[in-house]
Amino acid sequence: MAFASGKVLLFGEHAVVHGEPAIAAGLDRGVVATRHDADELRLVVPAWDLDVRAGDGSRVGRAIEALAGTLPAEARRGRFEVSPSIPPGAGLGSSAALAVAVARAALSVANDLADEELVAAAALASERVFHGNPSGLDHTVAMRGGLIRFRRGTPPIVDPLSAAETLSLVVAPVEPGADTGAMVRGVARRVDHHPGLELLAAIGRVVDRAAACIRDGDIEAVGELMDINHGLLAALGVSTPGLDAACHRARNAGALGAKLTGAGGGGAIVALAAAEGADEIAAALGPGAFVATVAGGNHHG
Ligand code: MEV
Repeated sequence: MAFASGKVLLFGEHAVVHGEPAIAAGLDRGVVATRHDADELRLVVPAWDLDVRAGDGSRVGRAIEALAGTLPAEARRGRFEVSPSIPPGAGLGSSAALAVAVARAALSVANDLADEELVAAAALASERVFHGNPSGLDHTVAMRGGLIRFRRGTPPIVDPLSAAETLSLVVAPVEPGADTGAMVRGVARRVDHHPGLELLAAIGRVVDRAAACIRDGDIEAVGELMDINHGLLAALGVSTPGLDAACHRARNAGALGAKLTGAGGGGAIVALAAAEGADEIAAALGPGAFVATVAGGNHHG
């Protein structure tokens, strides 16, 4: 049995694909995968109505085939039963968490301690089937949880980030998400059409400033920067009326800032609450909204 975290992207989605930094937090919620011996490679996720086999032609079937192809031969078989506590396709890292949990459960037959490099390679192979050009951020957070600043690369640069003040987040799935690969291609097209606007570099500067404000405990500034990041994501064409409306609802309920999180085109928002304010914001955002806390008070970073 193996667990992998879902994630919430606090800053920098899309720009991270093009080499800018991003900030993400692992969630307590995620995906648990249990391996049973079998002669086939099969994935069953009752909560998502999913039952696929490697090679059945479905996208998930191709993803687990790609994942298994990176593993030692003895780890390429099994029936994996998955129990998720995050919704699929909402920008909360469900596909990466699924891949990491399955890879870890698969590797438990091959060696006692799952080799984290193999897990990362397996998850990246699966993410490539879903996303085409994944930055690697989602599976990195799924593997390690916590609050990190991430920059794409081989290997990626992953810096743990210490929050001086606790970040009280409200995450709310708003509507069905869009295909991440299509959203990533749409952003690349828009950026190519209008060279010189530097929208991605502007997001990178927002991320750097947000990292400093998180370290310093200036949470009002962090909230403002989330609003700015949302505006830049809207400029890239990945927001929707539903996501915009949910951000306004969160701000009206007292949020210090709110933005879409993940690939956009639907999916979820994340809002930053002032101390004590999270429950009211969650109530305003309706069923499905939940509070996620990033502990502060660690001054080492
Ligand atoms: C999706 O969770 C985040 C994106 O930046 C894509 C990626 O980083 O691969 C949109």
